[in-house]
Amino acid sequence: MTASETRPLTAIRSFPSDFLWGAATAAYQIEGAAAEDGRTPSIWDTFSHTPGKVFEGHTGDVAVDHYHRFREDVGIMSEMGLNAYRFSVSWSRVQPTGRGPAVQKGLDFYRALVDELLAAGIEPALTLYHWDLPQELEDAGGWPERATAERFAEYAGIVADALGDRVTRWTTLNEPWCTAFLGYGSGVHAPGRTDPVDSLRAAHHLNLGHGLAVQALRAALPADRQLAVSLNLHEVRPLTDSAEDRDAARRIDAVGNRIWLGPMLDGAYPEDLLADTAHLTDWSFVRDGDTEAVRQPLDLLAVNYYTPTLVSHVPEGAEKPQDDGHGNSEHSPWPGADSVAFHRAPGERTAMGWPVDASALYDLLSRVSAAYPDLPLVISENGAAYEDEVGEDGSVHDPERAAYVHAHLEAVHRALTDGVDVRGYFLWSLLDNFEWAYGYAKRFGAVRVDYDTLERTPKSSARWYGRVARTGELHA
Ligand code: NOJ
Repeated sequence: MTASETRPLTAIRSFPSDFLWGAATAAYQIEGAAAEDGRTPSIWDTFSHTPGKVFEGHTGDVAVDHYHRFREDVGIMSEMGLNAYRFSVSWSRVQPTGRGPAVQKGLDFYRALVDELLAAGIEPALTLYHWDLPQELEDAGGWPERATAERFAEYAGIVADALGDRVTRWTTLNEPWCTAFLGYGSGVHAPGRTDPVDSLRAAHHLNLGHGLAVQALRAALPADRQLAVSLNLHEVRPLTDSAEDRDAARRIDAVGNRIWLGPMLDGAYPEDLLADTAHLTDWSFVRDGDTEAVRQPLDLLAVNYYTPTLVSHVPEGAEKPQDDGHGNSEHSPWPGADSVAFHRAPGERTAMGWPVDASALYDLLSRVSAAYPDLPLVISENGAAYEDEVGEDGSVHDPERAAYVHAHLEAVHRALTDGVDVRGYFLWSLLDNFEWAYGYAKRFGAVRVDYDTLERTPKSSARWYGRVARTGELHA
């Protein structure tokens, strides 16, 4: 019997008093004001305006109008009792062409947001890149090109100069896996390209961009600033214990996780990844000195987690199980892993169809902390989409979302109890928002947004999560 099975039902789990209780968002998903104050199109503007790319042609033109309503949104967080907020900066709002001088109005928006947060006692956690590359940089080749990494470091320096006096927590990239492999491999994300070699080139230049950006941030920021990268680490599980399925899991771990962790934290690409992809590329785009540039000391590793990844081996030519939108699609987002099939575990699922399994978060935290014991962790995203049922009085009762978060916070607490150094938890998401290729069809918010009136209504999960945040206690 495990400790958790013997724990009384009334158990209260207390979190450290300095634990960060936050919510997360991203610029393109919430800001709107797509053409205001000098902002120019990013790849997501172009992609969402391309017919057939996003559900029912939805775009981020207006999104949830956070650009104009950020004071109200900070007020909601303050009422909830959150002590941290993770947001991203829209590159094309502060440096429209992706090169050259910054636009003051763009920087002013983020300065006003940060000041509003600080005045409310909410710590800003800033992400520099959450998928919205300025279109001009994509026209010049995008992430498969080395120059994009260099541009990214310049942009990082601009934002650091403007906000470094007031922002303590900095994240370079959000989920570079999605940028490289959904953006340039499967094409379900902007810019919608489908070339496995480009996707690997993109992965390397994202790694390089991260390393160069960390160097630019360290040069521009006061010494006490906390630097991180946010990775959607996959907790990969083989379908069976067969050697083939375990090898399938190894391949996905390589191109899903170690392709980032290797260069960023260990200073080298994993040998097995290079071997698995050798038929696609000789990786000669990795120049001498690159891996040293990528490996920069970090203060935190930020992890985004939603669902485990269940895989099996398929013999060449054999049919894969039904497409799950991520793994088995026509153009694979997993270069070098054609012989791997993706499965969804039976049981409870969210509205995204993603199986709910908090044990995988515990396993993931335990594994990463064992591999990198000196690197504190933070959960930079976790949460779930569910269909909202709006009551006659406009209220939304979403016990499934609270249950999902509850289960995952229990997993975090279990890891903390084991001694894993987890510094905080950011719920995805504060507000319902533009869920990329799904448009506004999937609602991840603790706060409902009426997309006609843009009115915000905290759901019951927001009140529940706020109580946990204020007390630092999770009640069974
Ligand atoms: C990860 C991404 O960072 C975020 O933008 C997205 O909305 C959530 N996952 C949910 O899919």
